Amino acid sequence: MATLETSFVLLKPDAVQRGLVGQIISRFEGCGLRIVGMKMLAADKETLEQHYAEHKGKGFFPSLIEFMNNKTVVILAIEGANAISNIRKLVGSTEPAGAAPGTIRGDFCHMSYARSDNAPAGTLANVIHASDGSESANRELSLWFEEQDICHINNPRCDQFFM
Ligand code: PPS
Repeated sequence: MATLETSFVLLKPDAVQRGLVGQIISRFEGCGLRIVGMKMLAADKETLEQHYAEHKGKGFFPSLIEFMNNKTVVILAIEGANAISNIRKLVGSTEPAGAAPGTIRGDFCHMSYARSDNAPAGTLANVIHASDGSESANRELSLWFEEQDICHINNPRCDQFFM
C-alpha cells in the first residue's frame, strides 16, 4: 500500500556547477513527485558534519565534507507516494560507475570508488544525495529546513499551491 512521504534530497556541488539542477528536478516532477521545499545555499561544515554524522571516522569522511563545504548546493523536500524509496530508485546506486542507465547517477556521472581517491575533489562525485529511510528523511528535513518553509498540504501559508 502506498504511503504519502516527504524525502530530503540534496543536489551536490558537482550538479550545481555542471548546470544539471533543472534536468534533475524534472526527473522527480516527471514521475509525479511534488517539490514542496527548495533552497539554494552554501553548505556549511557544521551542518554537513551533522548530516553525515553516521559516517564520521570512515576514510572518506574528511574529503566528503571538504567536497561540499562552502559550496553551493540545492536542497529539496519532495513529497509523494512512497517518495523515499521511489526517489532512491530514480537516483540509482551510490557508486556512479555501477549505476543503471536511466537513473540520475547512471545518466549524469560515471566515477568509480577506485578513481575517486585520485579525483580533483578527492571524493566520489555522484551529484545527489537522497534520504535512505523515514528516520533519516525526518532528521535531514529538520536539519536543513525550517518547518514553515515546507509547503505540506497542511501548511496554511501554502494553500494556493494545492489548488
Ligand atoms: S557506507 O560505507 O556503505 O556506509 O557508505 P554509503 O552509505 O554507500 O555512502 C556514504 C556516503 O558517503 C559518500 N561517499 C562515499 N562513500 C563510500 N566511499 C567513498 N569513497 C565515498 N565518497 C563519498 C556516498 O556518496 C554517501 O553519501 P550520499 O550523499 O548519501 O550519496
